Amino acid sequence: MIERRLASELSEIASAGLTRRRRVLDAPCGRIATVDGKNVLNFASNDYLGLAGNTEIAQAMANGAIQWGAGSGASHLVSGHLAPHEALEKEIAAFTDFPRALTFSTGYLANLAVTPTLAGRGAAVFADKLNHASLIDAMQLAKSQGAEVQRYPHNDIAALEKMLAASVAPTKLIISDAVFSMDGDIAPLPALFALAERYDAWLIIDDAHGFGILGQHGKGSLAHFNLPASPRILLMGTLGKAAGVGGAFVAGSPTAIEYLLQKGRSYIFTTAQPPAIACALSKSLQLIREGVALRASLMARIAQLRDGLSLLPLKLLPSMTAIQPLIVGENEAAVALAQALWERDLWVPAIRPPTVPKGTARLRISLSAAHTEADVAALIAALKALT
Ligand SMILES: Cc1ncc(COP(=O)(O)O)c(C=O)c1O
Repeated sequence: MIERRLASELSEIASAGLTRRRRVLDAPCGRIATVDGKNVLNFASNDYLGLAGNTEIAQAMANGAIQWGAGSGASHLVSGHLAPHEALEKEIAAFTDFPRALTFSTGYLANLAVTPTLAGRGAAVFADKLNHASLIDAMQLAKSQGAEVQRYPHNDIAALEKMLAASVAPTKLIISDAVFSMDGDIAPLPALFALAERYDAWLIIDDAHGFGILGQHGKGSLAHFNLPASPRILLMGTLGKAAGVGGAFVAGSPTAIEYLLQKGRSYIFTTAQPPAIACALSKSLQLIREGVALRASLMARIAQLRDGLSLLPLKLLPSMTAIQPLIVGENEAAVALAQALWERDLWVPAIRPPTVPKGTARLRISLSAAHTEADVAALIAALKALT
């Protein structure tokens, strides 16, 4: 039977307690999720500014669909690049202070476009050990095209420098998450940039979890560190997290962006996002730019949670971002704690290997500007009672 091997792998996954299940939500993404008729406080989404359910953005999307239709009809380079896409690219470039930006249907596709396209045969790619799966896949694709790849220990600048110093590759790329998706910590971007300058490397930054949150006006992690929009930096940001909609962008120098447009296969060979998404994102960018109060509430909730859990036997990783991981250790214990919280109407996902290293299963508490002080107090009280 052709399916036998798959069935046996599935039962291995099940017996290791690693089967993943989806929950069906019966209401829009927001601070409260409705699942099977039960309302739970939602600490599981990446909707850090509470914009996913924002009615102004939804209205912009609806108006966009009426004006521009449901679909783009083709890839950007054929006939699918409509005026709202073009306008959004310009708005993103202006917002991020880079000369040019390109939009993608997802962050996964954006990452797949950047590293393999820039890293030709003989290039060397240096990647943080804890990078997101999409950056890892991009790195593997670069490898399959003849690039050499090396992974440095998480945020270890000295180890990275040794690798760069030993490399004779004509093209070098350093790739890193800006905010690590399962740890919440921020990469030492100034040090990475200094190394990129010293060793004449590209610096590819994935700001999925910093865009909208960090830096002045929520411009992201580069702004957080006051780093310049250097031509050697390519900044990727996703638009389905803080921006509340979907899609992604890559911003950079006019030459680098033109090169991606001409040669990035995951840009070229896919249908452009529906133009209504671009209309929604223009509204979302405006709300991010003006979102001082949203970011202030998010930061207050982060401080409240960290303060409230400081004496807990389980420890939060050091993170000043919306991602607050509580390390549990064993898979079963993490799942049991998540289940106990669920029974108290609190939704906090347990994250297990292979997403995180073995022995570091955790609860990934994700905070949002939509949460109230009482919401976070309820989570703190439940965790105190359960651990
Ligand atoms: C760091 C990071 N990069 C890229 C992605 C992929 O973005 P998207 O969901 O838009 O494909 C994600 C999450 O999904 C992420 O956490």
